[in-house]
Amino acid sequence: MLVAEAHGFDPDGTHETFGPSMHNGVQTWVGLDVQTLQTPYSDCLRILRLLRLRPYQHVIDLGAAYGRMGVVIGGLYLRSTFTGYEYVRARVDEGNRIYQLLDLTNCRLVEQDLFDPDFRIPEADVYFIYDFGQVEHIDHTLRELREVSRRRPVQIVVRGRFTKQIIREGHPWFSVAYEGKLDDFSIYRAYH
Ligand SMILES: C[S@@+](CC[C@H](N)C(=O)[O-])C[C@H]1O[C@@H](n2cnc3c(N)ncnc32)[C@H](O)[C@@H]1O
Repeated sequence: MLVAEAHGFDPDGTHETFGPSMHNGVQTWVGLDVQTLQTPYSDCLRILRLLRLRPYQHVIDLGAAYGRMGVVIGGLYLRSTFTGYEYVRARVDEGNRIYQLLDLTNCRLVEQDLFDPDFRIPEADVYFIYDFGQVEHIDHTLRELREVSRRRPVQIVVRGRFTKQIIREGHPWFSVAYEGKLDDFSIYRAYH
């Protein structure tokens, strides 16, 4: 449905242009294959095991799409909680519909532009970022996470080469705590 809507805005478009033309310039990756758009469930589980996610810990996905991480937390980590922030309303609604259908009461998706100047990232134990948008948006989010990490310990799970590159080049206070040879993600902790 999103792709059909995108064709109305941008008849000759691709997944590179659909999102920005529909969503005020925000790269929402409309039309990207859903398996590329989202982290595989097996990787979500591997990440949570490596983190040794404990009861009462809170996980936030910044740019959550349909909220796969929440499905895994809701199914297997019943005493932890999950919030996914996502720009595209249709994804938020569909993800929340699935959470309700599966009775995953510890998980929710929230419609939110992460680049909105009035938005402050809430505190959490774990943040998950998978190349959610433009470089300046990711950079802005990493700066906010630095502020959160001054107040409390955080772990940041990063998937995708852009975010890793942005950290390497401009955010030296995040250092790698885990980087598997075969894994597409890394885990960072903040040092001040
Ligand atoms: C590559 S997907 C990752 C989805 C999910 N984190 C995962 O790994 O399965 C990135 C998501 O971030 C969203 N996004 C991009 N820019 C955003 C913004 N400024 N605010 C909120 N969400 C945004 C996109 O719409 C997309 O659904």
